[in-house]
Amino acid sequence: MLKKLILILIATAFFACQLFAQPVAALELSEQDRTVKLNQQGEEVVISVPKVQKGKRLFDDTCAQCHTRGITKTNPNVTLSQQALAGAIPPRDNLEGIVDYLKNPTTYDGATDIKELHPNINRPDLYPEMRNLTEDDLEAIAAHILIQPKLLRERWGTGKPGF
Ligand code: HEC
Repeated sequence: MLKKLILILIATAFFACQLFAQPVAALELSEQDRTVKLNQQGEEVVISVPKVQKGKRLFDDTCAQCHTRGITKTNPNVTLSQQALAGAIPPRDNLEGIVDYLKNPTTYDGATDIKELHPNINRPDLYPEMRNLTEDDLEAIAAHILIQPKLLRERWGTGKPGF
């Protein structure tokens, strides 16, 4: 009897850990969570669940070494928080703005081309990991950046610890 109880306790603890380990599984995301700003005019678009999953995978593979949880390790002033993205010129707090950045990255003030400094698809010689990314892939990555702050709130882009 006691043995059974202990087993049940262990099983419960195990499943509880599993739940915490995956707090934001894409399948559980509501349509509202998956709705992101498309462009500067404020139009919106709903991202499909498979695209959300693809965006997370690609971001983890290609961007997370510098942008874990929305921070920028090598330049803490330019994070991926909504606020930082919105303040860039032109604003990058929308899908098209981020996709454009991944083709033609510029400094925060928009004045200087930084294709030689930041991963983009136009310099496959410098960034071979970007070479095979399609337009749909870039959109998925951009959507990931726009969805994460809704889920992680202030834990995205601020460097604050969480979970
Ligand atoms: C080697 C490190 C590194 C990698 C890898 C990297 N970035 Fe960046 N990222 C930076 C740095 C540094 C900046 C700030 C550049 C600047 O303006 O000086 C930046 C800026 C940005 C910005 C602009 C942020 C803002 O507030 O305006 C976006 C968007 C962005 N990165 C997205 C990505 C995406 C998406 C990927 C993966 C495809 C990626 N980055 C991969 C280092 C990196």
